[in-house]
Amino acid sequence: MNRAGRMRAIITIDGPSGAGKSTISRQLAERLNYTYLDTGAMYRAVGLKAKQEGVDPADGVAMAGLLDNLDLKLSANMGETRVFIGKADVSEAIRTPEMGLVASRVSAQGVVRQRLTELQRRLGGQGGVVVEGRDMGTVVFPEADCKFYLVATPEERAKRRQLQLREKGQEIDFLEILAQINKRDADDSARALAPLRPAADAVMIDSSLMSIEEVVAYMLTFCNSKGILQDSSEIG
Ligand code: DC
Repeated sequence: MNRAGRMRAIITIDGPSGAGKSTISRQLAERLNYTYLDTGAMYRAVGLKAKQEGVDPADGVAMAGLLDNLDLKLSANMGETRVFIGKADVSEAIRTPEMGLVASRVSAQGVVRQRLTELQRRLGGQGGVVVEGRDMGTVVFPEADCKFYLVATPEERAKRRQLQLREKGQEIDFLEILAQINKRDADDSARALAPLRPAADAVMIDSSLMSIEEVVAYMLTFCNSKGILQDSSEIG
């Protein structure tokens, strides 16, 4: 409970890549005055570090050593997550399609999942958070107050991803993006540890034919129905 006596909830949003999780999670967090936690960014940062140091993601001992020395920080700034390894701001470097695939590879490694799960529980366990990822509702926060699973057709997700990359000045062929999305879905769903799948009690939302605003409004209505109200504890 927060100071105003309202529930500071844990809200989870899981789903495949490109379903709109980041934008929607960020907006939902803003509307509720909650913290937004992007767990994919953590896997991407670990992937970047492994690549920089030439560590094979399949080598558990080497990955454990890498994690021991990893100074990873996330900071929320104006609704945007900045990611730092030591003093280096890697926020842009981790956002490439290549780093998405590398993140997917490191995320299948047990020691990586274990350490990042601990970190995520430490950061989000107090509540007042919207946490986004693949296993938030199933593994990291099975007791979450409100769980969503966001999907969209692969073609729609590839179209959105292409537009996002274009806005950043990267022009990538539609079919190449579609192939990457299908590969990442298959790898994330097939892995033995914490595979991508909806929690039994998650609310399924197909965003293919819905706008961002419609999805956020739907989620807010559902959260309200569960007694999760905007956190205004800081005000007054
Ligand atoms: O959400 P994203 O595209 O930034 O995630 C990158 C990869 O990280 C994704 O393909 C799988 C992995 N990941 C994960 O295994 N568990 C999470 N909670 C978040 C991401």
